[in-house]
This record gives sequence, C-alpha cells and structure tokens, in this order.
Amino acid sequence: MILVTGGTGLVGSHLLYHLVLDNDRVRAIHMRSSDLNAVKRVFSYYSEQSEALFNKIRWVEADLNDVPALELAFKDTTQVYHCAAMISFVPSGYQKMRRVNIEGTTNIVNLCISNHIEKLCFVSSVAAIENDSEGILMDESDNWNNSSDKSGYAITKYGAEMEVWRASQEGIDIVIVNPGVILGPGFWHKGSGKMFSRVNKGLKFYTEGITGFVGVEDVVRAMILLMQSEISNQRFILVSENLSFKKIFSLISDSLHKEKAKIRINKFMIQLVWRIEYLRGKITLSEPFLTKYSARSSVSNHPYTSKKILNGLEGFEFEDIKSCVYKTASHFEKKLT
Ligand SMILES: NC(=O)c1ccc[n+]([C@@H]2O[C@H](COP(=O)([O-])OP(=O)(O)OC[C@H]3O[C@@H](n4cnc5c(N)ncnc54)[C@H](OP(=O)(O)O)[C@@H]3O)[C@@H](O)[C@H]2O)c1
Repeated sequence: MILVTGGTGLVGSHLLYHLVLDNDRVRAIHMRSSDLNAVKRVFSYYSEQSEALFNKIRWVEADLNDVPALELAFKDTTQVYHCAAMISFVPSGYQKMRRVNIEGTTNIVNLCISNHIEKLCFVSSVAAIENDSEGILMDESDNWNNSSDKSGYAITKYGAEMEVWRASQEGIDIVIVNPGVILGPGFWHKGSGKMFSRVNKGLKFYTEGITGFVGVEDVVRAMILLMQSEISNQRFILVSENLSFKKIFSLISDSLHKEKAKIRINKFMIQLVWRIEYLRGKITLSEPFLTKYSARSSVSNHPYTSKKILNGLEGFEFEDIKSCVYKTASHFEKKLT
C-alpha cells in the first residue's frame, strides 16, 4: 500500500493522479476540513475518467498531529510520500507551523520506523537549503546557516528534514526533494496559483528578486522515479529555471492576455511596505499580504542548480517554465468561462 500525506494540496493531488494510474493500492490522508473536490478537479485536468480514478483512492481522516488516526492510515503501508505541510510567512502562524511541519513529520517518521516502511519520500523546499549569499548558485551541499535570520517556514522545513534524516539513521530508505516555487493548476487562492489570480485582477507592481521555479508535473515525476529507483538517503533540488519575479509575472500576464505590471518596487520600498502591512494587520486583526520574509524573498537573488537530479535520474528533463505557465493559465481561463 502506498500512503500519501497532503493529497488535497497542489503537489499531493497531482501526485495522487499519477500514482493511481499505475497502482490499485493507494491511500491518502485528509483533514476533516479538507476539500476533496479540489482533488477531483485536478484529476479532471488530466483525464475523462477522472471520477473512476479518484474513486481508487482510499481516504482516511487523519491530522499529522493525531497519532492514533495516523496509525490506522499506516496499516499495510510499504511506501510513504509525505507532502503535507503548512506554508505560512505570517509570524503568528509560527508555533502552529512547527507543530504541523516538524512534530507532524516526527510522527510520520516514527510510524515509518515502527511499521518497517520500505521507502519514504519527503517534500522539503529550497527554503531548507538557502544560505544568505546573494547571486551564488546553490546546490544540495550548501549548508544551513543557523545563525542567520531565517523565516519560520524555512526553519520548520529544515527541522522536518532533520527528522527524515533520523529515519535514514534508523534504517529506512529515504529520498528528499527540494523544489523551488511550484507552478501548476488547481489551487488559485494560495501559493503560485495566487499569482495567476493576482495578475488576472490586474497587477501594477513588480520586484526583481530571483528564485527557482518548477512545474508540479516535474515534481511528482521526480518523486515517483526516485521512489522506484535504487537511490536512497539523498536530497535533490528540483528547479527548472531561475527567473526574476518580473519575468514570471510577465509570462503569466502574457498567458492570461493581461497588461504587464509597470511599477518596479525596489529593496527600500519593499521594506517600507511590509512594515506598513504589519501595522495594518495588527490594527485590523487581519493577515498582512506581505511579511518581512515574503518581502525579502521578493527582492533577493537566490538561484539553484538541479544538476544532481539531471545526472542522477537517467533521461530526466525539466519542462521549461514558459510552457508550465501557459499550461496552468489554460486551466485558469477555463475556470473563468
Ligand atoms: N507550493 C510550493 O511552491 C512549494 C515549494 C517548495 C516546497 N513545497 C512543499 O511541498 C509540499 C506540498 O506543498 P503544496 O504546494 O502542495 O501545499 P498545499 O497546496 O498548501 O497543500 C498542503 C497539504 O497539507 C495538508 N495539511 C496541512 N496541515 C495538515 C495537518 N495538520 N495534517 C494533515 N494534513 C495537513 C493540507 O490539507 P488541506 O487541503 O486540508 O489544507 C494539504 O493537503 C509542502 O511540504 C511544501 O512545504 C511547496
């Protein structure tokens, strides 16, 4: 039995689709509040038989912090894809994010060990690799710099990775993927999907920070290939291209036939904006749309190399980002009609 966590999210839903194509024994956990229709929608992007394929999944309600429920989900499990996580850059979310991302991964790792799981794939992030040097191509060997000012999200992804390395010390075969910003259709209110929603509404401002981007189909393909391979106890950066936010928003604007953002926000201005947003959030008791860390990453230059996966998985290639953006935009436009 293959067990997937985070199956109702961007990565997990696309992963589930590719897993059920070739496997009859796939189980996924969801929370009580999870939207299973979002998964059906993603399946419908791929196939006319989406309902039948969706019905192959055996769903179990389990929160990452609910060990008894997770124990039931682990019954007869041989492989685990751990995609679930909380992604937030709002300081008030930090303690909860630690519980979900670090303690939740501790629970998954403990159950992998006690159930003698054959292999575990963990979705980490380039955030767990990031050092602070600007403009230097980072790879998997780049060391985590604990002394610098990291976002809560980065700290929890790194903490979760440490738990997964513990599993490898306990004899479980593990692989870790570290994707950059993941582009793909299905979730327009969060992550990269929000970028499409913003551009569609009319985006006036852009920044010139650089980071790595990758398509969701490449992420899940790499995960499945790594799980099927003899490779273990390694981590792999998944980045197709390093692009500026200006470039990515320009591609999204073109793909949605919208006007491009014209006003450049520089490092000084963004420092001002996140502080104003912080105060606005405090006064109105609402979530700021920009925080210290999201502001910083929007103007920083952090490129990554994916040479390791390109050399390690024979024949593996990344789809170019323009094609990922246009494919995602076509689903966004269908949603509007
Ligand atoms: N998106 C990116 O650009 C990106 C980039 C690099 C790495 N990653 C990593 O990739 C993984 C998947 O990200 P994503 O984009 O698919 O995120 P997502 O769309 O927000 O999905 C997160 C998933 O985790 C589940 N989840 C959250 N808290 C949980 C809990 N306490 N117990 C059980 N399930 C819980 C969510 O359930 P609900 O559906 O009920 O909320 C959802 O299924 C994450 O580990 C993330 O850190 C993402």
